[in-house]
Amino acid sequence: KPKHVILTPNLTTCHKSLSDADRPVYCCPPKRESLETIIDFKFPDISEPIRVRKPAHMVDADYIAKYNKAIAIMKSLPYDDPRSYMRQANMHCIYCTGAYNQQNSNSLLKIHRSWMFFPWHRMMIYFHERILGSLIGDENFALPFWNWDSPEGMFIPDMYLNGSMVDTQRDSSHLPPQVADINYDYFERGLGPEDQISTNVAFMYNQMVSGAKKTELFMGCPYKAGEDGFCDGPGTIELAPHNALHTWVGSNLNTEREDLGAFYSAARDPIFYAHHSNIDRLWNVWNELRGNKPAIEDPEWLDSTFYFHNEKSQLVRIKIRDVLDSSKLRYAYENVENVWLDARP
Ligand code: C2O
Repeated sequence: KPKHVILTPNLTTCHKSLSDADRPVYCCPPKRESLETIIDFKFPDISEPIRVRKPAHMVDADYIAKYNKAIAIMKSLPYDDPRSYMRQANMHCIYCTGAYNQQNSNSLLKIHRSWMFFPWHRMMIYFHERILGSLIGDENFALPFWNWDSPEGMFIPDMYLNGSMVDTQRDSSHLPPQVADINYDYFERGLGPEDQISTNVAFMYNQMVSGAKKTELFMGCPYKAGEDGFCDGPGTIELAPHNALHTWVGSNLNTEREDLGAFYSAARDPIFYAHHSNIDRLWNVWNELRGNKPAIEDPEWLDSTFYFHNEKSQLVRIKIRDVLDSSKLRYAYENVENVWLDARP
């Protein structure tokens, strides 16, 4: 038995929580998850095909139709079904607004602004992707990634403007052809497309390379169990482009720039999953840049434990150590050129 205290939620405690602007929100499941049977995470079988995530601006019409169908089915499931779209979206709300207390502590469990950020979101979209695939009977189904670090990808991808991919709660002045400001901070920079693109590329170099040389700068601060374990220190990428693009996409007409602009509502917008797929890809890229040496070996991080429902609606207990190698999770990213790598000032 490990001697350290493990960060994990107490599933019996799901309660009302607070939005970013301290407004009460409620995102708990309808019935007690604590009464469900819990199974330990197992890697997918190596006979499973590798799901290849492609840039959202490069997918074809067949893929878009397939994905739309999967989302439409997911949205049609009742809230009782943990695979339903709102339940999926509320997983983000639960873990992001502190709807669970930690096990053996009254401290809230929150997975942003620390080293929980990359692994927790990897888990979330991993299960989401597999649920989508199973709803349409396609074990090759892979999420797309919003390639906003590449000049051709610095727009809201067209596939999110139609069908079940639409979210009406977005800033209408940021729809295509507007180039994204990946370091957006609530004001319009007013740059022309070319200047905005080169500003973005230079910024990526800073967030991925020059500003991310130490593990903690990239991964975020070491958030641990218990009251003393709290920390608030997001990594470079989490702060921006991650937070920045949440804000940039969300509607300027809503108090908290919902949907994408607020933690409690962000995962209601289908673009959330492509945004996080790119974040997840960049985590792999950062690891590759440092020769794939394990970045964090602290068991308190490796053993941090979370719960998600899988495609069979089973409640799964999963640890950070389970998600460090995406190939073991049977997905990969199509190779794209990381143009910012050559953007050293
Ligand atoms: Cu949990 Cu993109 O935020």
